Amino acid sequence: MEKKVVLITGANSGFGKWMALEFAKANYTVIASMRDRNKSKPLIDIATKMGVMSNIEIIILDITSDKSVENLTLYLQEFGRVDLLINNAGYAGAGFSEEIPIQEYQLQMDTNFFGTIRVTQAVLPFMRKQGQGMIINMSSISGEIGFPGMSPYVSSKFALEGWSESLRLELAPFSIPVILIEPGSFQTNIWTTGKKVTEKSTLATSPYFTYMNQLDTYLQKNRHKDGDPRELARKVVAIAQKKQPKMRYVVGKGTKSTILVKRIIPWKWWEKIVLFILK
Ligand SMILES: NC(=O)c1ccc[n+]([C@@H]2O[C@H](COP(=O)([O-])OP(=O)(O)OC[C@H]3O[C@@H](n4cnc5c(N)ncnc54)[C@H](OP(=O)(O)O)[C@@H]3O)[C@@H](O)[C@H]2O)c1
Repeated sequence: MEKKVVLITGANSGFGKWMALEFAKANYTVIASMRDRNKSKPLIDIATKMGVMSNIEIIILDITSDKSVENLTLYLQEFGRVDLLINNAGYAGAGFSEEIPIQEYQLQMDTNFFGTIRVTQAVLPFMRKQGQGMIINMSSISGEIGFPGMSPYVSSKFALEGWSESLRLELAPFSIPVILIEPGSFQTNIWTTGKKVTEKSTLATSPYFTYMNQLDTYLQKNRHKDGDPRELARKVVAIAQKKQPKMRYVVGKGTKSTILVKRIIPWKWWEKIVLFILK
């Protein structure tokens, strides 16, 4: 049987890196895409140690660039097929809404939302021609729950959720399931180099300065509870092998119960709980 081919965006770090490694270990051919080849060393080093580097091809792909995605199309024309697309690349825009320039919202949407659409539109013609495929979109608990101080990120993930539901219904007749992964908090770069806080909200002159610090303190205090990205990667490999995958998979300690509570209790209780926890 022909080896399955998976294309992963943002494969140089975090979930993307571990998914590339775990899919390679499961004997998929992995097209590990990243926007900067100089960042490929961590992936290459571990893949070499695991003896799976022969299953990995590294390509350059910036999901915010039309030109870069055009190059992806040319590459796929040569390569021939892609069975699974994992839209993983993203970052976390943070700060308080009043202080965040529109351009920062636009940049956030251009990566987490439009970038995902851009890559999907490039890949879908290949999947339809093959008569099969699968798309996994990396959403978040933030695609179900709004958090203060994270509105660009939350908005991008809510948009991704709505778009993915529509896409799932559009692609059902073509046997191409669309799946959302909703992780809680995991130990990756998204909470350090991948977090872009608007400058104004970090200044002592900001009316949100105290609130901002409360949030940071809460997040720092709970960082040690963050999950292992490798475990998530293994779950995604298992999900990709399901015959009839669900629309959503919630992953991470306590994440399912948090989403469930938010869905069933009245908003005014939810609001009290969140504000109490952050105090
Ligand atoms: N970790 C968590 O707690 C968590 C929870 C829920 C959801 N998620 C989601 O999981 C996904 C992966 O994030 P992560 O946690 O693994 O964080 P990460 O380690 O920061 O990885 C993010 C990846 O996205 C790449 N990326 C960002 N902008 C890009 C662009 N324009 N073109 C191509 N690649 C780009 C980054 O590349 P560079 O290294 O070049 O910046 C990096 O490889 C994201 O969609 C995130 O929202 C993460």
